[in-house]
Amino acid sequence: RPNRPQNQSGPSRGQNPHSSLSLSTRRELYERDFPVYKQPVEVGCFSLDSERRFFNDGRQIRYYVEPDRRPNFDLRDGYKDRFIKRDDSVKEKLDHMLRWILANRSKLSARGTTASSCDLDIDFVTWRGHLTKLLTAPYETREGWQLAVTRFRGTLYISEVETEAARRDQENRTERHEEMMYWGYKFEQYTCADTVHSRPDPGGVVNTNEAFCTVVQTRLADHRLLFSGEVDCRDKDPNAPAAPACYIELKTSAEICTPKQRSNFHRFKLLKWWAQSFLPGVPRVVAGFRDEEGVVVAMETFPISKISHLIKNEHNCWKPTVCMNFCSDFLSFVKHIATEDNPSVVYLLSWEPRRDVTFSVHRDSPYCFLPHWFVEEMTS
Ligand code: A3P
Ligand code: MG
Ligand code: MG
Repeated sequence: RPNRPQNQSGPSRGQNPHSSLSLSTRRELYERDFPVYKQPVEVGCFSLDSERRFFNDGRQIRYYVEPDRRPNFDLRDGYKDRFIKRDDSVKEKLDHMLRWILANRSKLSARGTTASSCDLDIDFVTWRGHLTKLLTAPYETREGWQLAVTRFRGTLYISEVETEAARRDQENRTERHEEMMYWGYKFEQYTCADTVHSRPDPGGVVNTNEAFCTVVQTRLADHRLLFSGEVDCRDKDPNAPAAPACYIELKTSAEICTPKQRSNFHRFKLLKWWAQSFLPGVPRVVAGFRDEEGVVVAMETFPISKISHLIKNEHNCWKPTVCMNFCSDFLSFVKHIATEDNPSVVYLLSWEPRRDVTFSVHRDSPYCFLPHWFVEEMTS
């Protein structure tokens, strides 16, 4: 039985379609004007090396090298002998972001010389990937999620908890599925160089420990956000716009041969692609379309700002405004329920498709995710 907090009456009870203890994901409730979403500003970046060690700099950035319009990239090459896979049983939670925050605190506390000057001037700290899941929830029919929230020194930290279903799916992956998860990284290796002047090296090792992450600040309605997301590569033109506008998201997808496949691509894949890149202000996705054998046979660039026009002819399609309004209302809901400022209290928000978002409260439990090194440094 989940514990409910004492204060159960919401500020807008009676006028609001949501009760104060749960939040609906029904699309109709979020079809209103697009909320304010400020242009995301990059406030920093960090890198994770081949052993997943943190560096407070951009050493892992890669440069996009445009391939032929009709490439012949074999995405299966190297899967058996040149692939080092990150150990995904290690749950890193928010740790890398927290390390970045400690190293860059002076950039973030803007409240001047008051007693609270060490507090962050931010409402929410999280990973971009968690926000992507919120944006797509009104259209998601398969995978639920659990998000752990802790309020600490006025800021709400949001970290994902793996669901039982996700853990089962991970354990029961087929060999084909395991291999297909490699294909996206292999595509990155065919299209990215390590320096401005070098070429991609398809003969090298694919190591998924390595990552370059941008840290951006923005505001959604009245929520001040700080989040980080992995960036695949950047434009190598020295005259390219400043980050995040110079970043490029790489994707692979099955070749589109029928109208039905095109419709599914618009309805499901473009939703995920749009949500992931719109959040940090990454302006384009470069896609490689592959055949059944895992060979990339076509390339296409999708500017994020054009995706909402591309999908308008689809019947009953997803709408960016629904995604953003749901996310905004979710964050309001979190502010409303997660009232106790305490690093050892976790509000666990759970959602399954076709259900409402519900929550439970946990004290000194295994759900706690703010590490001692972070709490101590932020308190001193
Ligand atoms: P594709 O998206 O081209 O399939 P990202 O595109 O977010 O940069 O992720 C890089 C690659 O990681 C993906 O390439 C895919 O191969 C793999 N990947 C990412 N998220 C995944 C997930 N939830 N399940 C399976 N594979 C995933
Ligand atoms: Mg990536
Ligand atoms: Mg990618």
